[in-house]
Amino acid sequence: MLTATTSLPADPASQADAQPQSTPIDRQRNLSRREFIHEYQIRRRPVILEDATDHWAASSWTPESLCRRIGDKQVLVRGTDRCYRFDELTELIHESTPENPAPYGRNLNVHRDLPELLPDIQPRLKYATPDWKSSRLLPKDWLFQNGLEEVFYGGRGASFPVLHVDYWGMDGFISQMYGEKEFTLFSPEDTPFLYQPDDDPLSTRITDLDHVDLTEFPLYAKANMIRFMLQPGETLYNPSGWWHTTRMHNASITVITATWNASNWRTLISEIRRNWSKDRPFKARIMTTYLAGVGKLLSIRDAVLNGIGRAD
Ligand SMILES: [Fe+2]
Repeated sequence: MLTATTSLPADPASQADAQPQSTPIDRQRNLSRREFIHEYQIRRRPVILEDATDHWAASSWTPESLCRRIGDKQVLVRGTDRCYRFDELTELIHESTPENPAPYGRNLNVHRDLPELLPDIQPRLKYATPDWKSSRLLPKDWLFQNGLEEVFYGGRGASFPVLHVDYWGMDGFISQMYGEKEFTLFSPEDTPFLYQPDDDPLSTRITDLDHVDLTEFPLYAKANMIRFMLQPGETLYNPSGWWHTTRMHNASITVITATWNASNWRTLISEIRRNWSKDRPFKARIMTTYLAGVGKLLSIRDAVLNGIGRAD
């Protein structure tokens, strides 16, 4: 098992303003599944897996190769509320600039929107199993589609709209297939320094991480930023609860694989309780009780099969 660390310096302007400095992130090759579980998943630590997608045909995706296959497909681009043909979106992405970024084709559900591409991202990453969300003990496509895999397709100057924590306590495996993508992460321990709005604990009121007004958000100076560039072929493991956002300096294609298992099941249950208790208290109680039971059963199954089961 090889270990290395990388990081990008934080924006020079932010350094001048005494903003958080970037701290390194682990990088791994040839990591066994057992090592991954014990070193990263159980300990809720992010890591860059340098060779996790070597077996995927998607490793050779380019904007042009995808246009040849799905150029005439319509995809709904979030934030614009309109559909684009994939080749039309590609043209815009090639012309994208920081001043005039192309629409960011994000959260394109592969199963629903681009099923032609499914074989290219199979078999699942060995680190992204088991996925309890797809268990037969749960209703099919409950909460959202089972086997959640999404494509993110953007151009130079585009970015994810906000620093956030992923919904429903999901663990994300974020695989860079083409181009590179800049990531900014903060640990769950930094949550007290990130100023969440009253009605949304999964987002922050800070809109520009490189130019934060420390008189308005003084605690931000205590946060430990992790910033790095994810390169083609690399996969970021982003454990539930970690804050993250991205921006692109060139055309970029990314695949996200979401998982739920012993490491984040309790987070899923507490998210359901938080979201449903007010308006649907009875349903919340029934569902969380059932999920807790399912979690116990699947933990035992994993422990028997793999010797790794552990409820957090
Ligand atoms: Fe996210």
